[in-house]
Amino acid sequence: MERRTAALTMMLASLGLAACSPAPEPSIPARGAKLFQQTCAACHGADGRGGSAPDLTRLIMDGSGTFPSIETLNRMHEGGDAMPAFRDLALGPTVVVEIEEGIGTPVPEDMLAIWRYLETIQRPDL
Ligand code: HEC
Repeated sequence: MERRTAALTMMLASLGLAACSPAPEPSIPARGAKLFQQTCAACHGADGRGGSAPDLTRLIMDGSGTFPSIETLNRMHEGGDAMPAFRDLALGPTVVVEIEEGIGTPVPEDMLAIWRYLETIQRPDL
């Protein structure tokens, strides 16, 4: 009985830990949604599902089933053939985020917000 209690306690503890894993701050994607409308929607569509530029809600399908963080950030930073680079825009103060484990990457705050928003609109199951 005592053993079962211990196992249960451990299970609950691990559930507790899972619940505490860092969830994105809700205000960040919300701000990103607004910025997306201002900076990206003209080409990528109001809902991000494509316009004159590709659908951005299926980026998750391009990688290993996970959101291609570095590629997406790079694309915003560098632009593309027909896409402007956003590195020179005033995108707010730079914050350091851990995109790859153990590596801090400086990212402008507004770019981070757009990127977090893009992550929330992915449609992996279509
Ligand atoms: C002037 C139009 C235009 C604007 C504004 C624009 N894009 Fe793009 N974007 C494109 C085009 C066109 C492509 C694909 C061809 C290329 O690389 O130029 C693209 C490609 C991308 C890709 C790669 C998609 C893929 O399937 O690999 C990402 C990610 C992306 N854009 C994100 C953004 C974000 C985020 C913003 C706003 C900060 C933005 N774009 C603003 C035109 C635009």
